Amino acid sequence: MSPRIPTVVLGGTGYVAGELLRLIAAHPNFRLAAVMSDSQPGESIARAFPHLASSYPGERFRSQAEVAPLIAAAPESAVFSAAPHGVSASLIDTLLSGAQRAGTRPRVVDISADFRYASPETYAQVYAHAHGAPGRMREFTCALPEHLNEATTPHIAHPGCFATAILLASVPLLAAGLVRQPLFVSGVTGSTGSGRKPVEGTHHPLRHSDLYSYGALSHRHVPEVAACARAASGVAAQFAFVPHSGPFARGIHVAVQAAASRAVDTADVLAALRDFYAHAPFVRVTAEAPRIKDVVASNYAHLSAAAKDGTVAVLCAIDNLTKGAAGGAVQWMNRLFALPETTGLTAPAPGWT
Ligand SMILES: NC(=O)c1ccc[n+]([C@@H]2O[C@H](COP(=O)([O-])OP(=O)(O)OC[C@H]3O[C@@H](n4cnc5c(N)ncnc54)[C@H](OP(=O)(O)O)[C@@H]3O)[C@@H](O)[C@H]2O)c1
Repeated sequence: MSPRIPTVVLGGTGYVAGELLRLIAAHPNFRLAAVMSDSQPGESIARAFPHLASSYPGERFRSQAEVAPLIAAAPESAVFSAAPHGVSASLIDTLLSGAQRAGTRPRVVDISADFRYASPETYAQVYAHAHGAPGRMREFTCALPEHLNEATTPHIAHPGCFATAILLASVPLLAAGLVRQPLFVSGVTGSTGSGRKPVEGTHHPLRHSDLYSYGALSHRHVPEVAACARAASGVAAQFAFVPHSGPFARGIHVAVQAAASRAVDTADVLAALRDFYAHAPFVRVTAEAPRIKDVVASNYAHLSAAAKDGTVAVLCAIDNLTKGAAGGAVQWMNRLFALPETTGLTAPAPGWT
């Protein structure tokens, strides 16, 4: 068996980093070389993630100064960034520059928003700060693995969690010319979508038995979704998106609706989805409405559809931390290292969480 690929995780104590560590622990080809933590270098991984104690009993978070030489010394390495946007780009740039000087070739999958845009100006418009590494933007492709066979860049920007569900549901409709503009999207996310740092909107008494929308028609990730949808389908689509906070920790459910462009029934739309995802190992298309319980803690996406009286609806359920972040990133990293894309990712959902 070939030696396992040294793997580094940035953004160490965050929820997505924890999910990356869980997946890497079970991956046959990736070996955890280091987890970088800005706030807790030297602390034990098991303290931040007690559920991972048996996989990483003695390992500790490392500082940037410890991680950089590891990446520079390894002839090849896999680097996942689960750092926040605005931090990730400059951190990745520093680590890649060190590797370049040493003549080594890390591959990066960035799960933050920093490399999802093609131009620093567009990024600055949306995020209201200058991009941290504009010279690196052309080294990244932003796409779902289901929508791009092969990346031509060395590194990948993962589209994000709501974006994953919306794109999985919308791109087949756009590609087949089944709908007219705009696409109306309603989505519900679990509280882990807001990250580990407690804020009012993620506080348990406020959230556990409630449901409410936020950022209606002005969610920050809509331009990224539109850009990815255009690249994947060739259609410039308009998305009217109303996100909601749901009373659960993990999972995303979206419903995409639009006017049909021609006479279609439910069977036609299900057939179009099945056809589009015939070779996508993590996408299941069923006649039954998808439920987040059936996908949570797995890399699977469940899709269904309905069509009636000139309207088409596609429903999608994923886990925000797995398929929408860490799992989708591992899927891309598998491909960057010419491994089967399913490697380490085929465990089914627990079903009752
Ligand atoms: N949560 C989701 O469902 C989801 C889905 C898709 C994409 N994402 C994206 O994935 C990334 C991580 O999300 P998350 O939910 O895991 O967030 P999180 O729980 O808030 O974790 C982010 C981690 O980044 C590190 N960090 C924070 N400030 C930093 C700084 N100034 N410099 C360096 N590191 C810093 C912190 O860990 P250390 O102090 O230990 O370094 C923090 O725990 C974000 O970019 C997010 O937008 C999240």
